[in-house]
Amino acid sequence: MQTLKVDLGERSYPIHIGEDLLDQPELLAPHIRGRQVAIISNETVAPLYLERLTRSLAQFSVVSVVLPDGEAFKTWETLQLIFDGLLTARHDRRTTVIALGGGVIGDMAGFAAACYQRGVDFIQVPTTLLSQVDSSVGGKTGINHPLGKNMVGAFYQPNVVLIDTATLNTLPARELSAGLAEVIKYGLICDEPFLTWLEENVDRLRALDQVALTYAIERSCAAKAAVVGADERETGVRATLNLGHTFGHAIETHMGYGVWLHGEAVAAGTVMALEMSARLGWISEQERDRGIRLFQRAGLPVIPPEEMTEVDFLEHMAIDKKVIDGRLRLVLLRHMGEAVVTDDYPKEVLQATLGADYRALAQLKG
Ligand code: NAD
Ligand code: GLY
Repeated sequence: MQTLKVDLGERSYPIHIGEDLLDQPELLAPHIRGRQVAIISNETVAPLYLERLTRSLAQFSVVSVVLPDGEAFKTWETLQLIFDGLLTARHDRRTTVIALGGGVIGDMAGFAAACYQRGVDFIQVPTTLLSQVDSSVGGKTGINHPLGKNMVGAFYQPNVVLIDTATLNTLPARELSAGLAEVIKYGLICDEPFLTWLEENVDRLRALDQVALTYAIERSCAAKAAVVGADERETGVRATLNLGHTFGHAIETHMGYGVWLHGEAVAAGTVMALEMSARLGWISEQERDRGIRLFQRAGLPVIPPEEMTEVDFLEHMAIDKKVIDGRLRLVLLRHMGEAVVTDDYPKEVLQATLGADYRALAQLKG
């Protein structure tokens, strides 16, 4: 097992990464202050892992709340089901909420923990690649609004993140690819040598090679922990973690939550960010194509939805948490392995990026 740390002073916490950690109660118990525990999961993950996690918590009084599965359920209505479960079981403010599932469960359970009785303890047990490399670390929690993705939420850090890499053995291939989008992101924004490693190992990752997966998760979590430690509330460098997300969130919102997976929308959105960075002359066309090729090899879409017009994109992108005083800031690549957040770009370059021929770019890559 490998343990990393998110360094946030007295709110610092460990990230444990390894195989079959669900069966190791000693990793969770030190982070649970009271007797009550509420495990929040969904109808897909609960039948797979709820019993094992509950067994590891045998010394506590455990209740579970099993939610419907899907991005479309990341809503106020579903959040209310968590509060219903906590109140029905008479959980007090020393309860600990544990998220067992992917990013949707993690974001919702974390937001519920932030709100319940004005804040109770929270633990992340992520079970998708995406949640293991990104959403379980860093304390962003929340729900979607019909007008915008993740628009209602709170920064709320967990006490510990427990990553059992063996849970990925049951993850559908499409979901594994979606997680790879966020893994590739770290290479693009801050770790160019990791891009080379990914090019050499993407097939092992897709084949669920535990050694390769564990390495990719560790390197991704280390990158995320460093960024979060430097800028917890996203006043600066943390925004670079949103490479491709402004375009991607527009795709998710426009298409209807869950139609495109988050990681798929991030992949196509990142290709748009690569294209814009190339149009600005910051990276070469060869470097842009290198990124596109890697997304394709990871099994991810690189062409935005045909039915989305430039106006659609601009309308959705106007509702983005990186908009300040009406100016849309975008995360772009100054170089491969170096991202910047900027509102200093000619409008025509953004227009040209939205109108670019992505089908042709994708075909060039074969
Ligand atoms: P998800 O939570 O919807 O999980 C994907 C699917 O896999 C679901 O059907 C789920 O039930 C299933 N699943 C989960 N674990 C499984 C397992 N081990 N075996 C079989 N099936 C399993 O999606 P996701 O990709 O994990 O997360 C996407 C969400 O995360 C989005 O809402 C996105 O906005 C959010 N997100 C948040 C942050 C953050 O910093 N908080 C960062 C990135 C993404
Ligand atoms: N996923 C972006 C962040 O955590 O900041």
